[in-house]
Amino acid sequence: MNQDQMKKAAAEAAIAYVEPGMVVGVGTGSTANHFIDLLAEIRDRIDGTVASSEASAQRLRGHGIQVMDLNAAGQLPLYVDGADESNRELHLIKGGGGALTREKIVAAASDRFVCIADESKLVDVLGAFPLPVEVIPMARAYVVRELVRLGGQPVLREGFITDNGNVILDVHNLQISDPTDMERRINQLAGVVTVGIFAQRPADVLILGGADGVRKLEPR
Ligand code: A5P
Repeated sequence: MNQDQMKKAAAEAAIAYVEPGMVVGVGTGSTANHFIDLLAEIRDRIDGTVASSEASAQRLRGHGIQVMDLNAAGQLPLYVDGADESNRELHLIKGGGGALTREKIVAAASDRFVCIADESKLVDVLGAFPLPVEVIPMARAYVVRELVRLGGQPVLREGFITDNGNVILDVHNLQISDPTDMERRINQLAGVVTVGIFAQRPADVLILGGADGVRKLEPR
């Protein structure tokens, strides 16, 4: 099984969490795209979706799946999304695709967050994947200085603007041993919209696709 087949296997397992009449929160990225394509096969059984990015909204609509505004949908029963890294507490790094802010909003507004990934995403300590931070453009240089003080090496994601009109700093060389504390500290910096650590609201279930099939992890 290659990595893409592992992602697809995880997405297939997540379909079991979709119940008739649900409005389903849908994430962003190549693993979430597999989930969207599978959701298309059962679109008549759900009431609609809320998307965490313009790209996912477009893909959902392309399949004839209704995409709703989160304000109209209210609290969601289920959110399914990928991740760039997860530890065994199901604290995540997200935002490799730049959709971290809307992803964090949809995750916060959902009762259950099912994370889908291939097994390479499971790590002991978060931070080998450069940590995405969405920043209001005028604050960029200030936030860079503050992230250096925290021990990181921020790099501007060149040529990329988020769905919200902001920039992304990818922070290298952070060993995130206390994800909840690091999430809080970076979120508190003036000009930071969202940091890609999902620890205050971790995933509830992690479905990992691997060479031997899928396995489910819940926080230890
Ligand atoms: C999007 O902003 C990210 O949070 C994605 O969830 C993450 O990058 C996972 O992407 P893949 O499913 O493509 O690995």
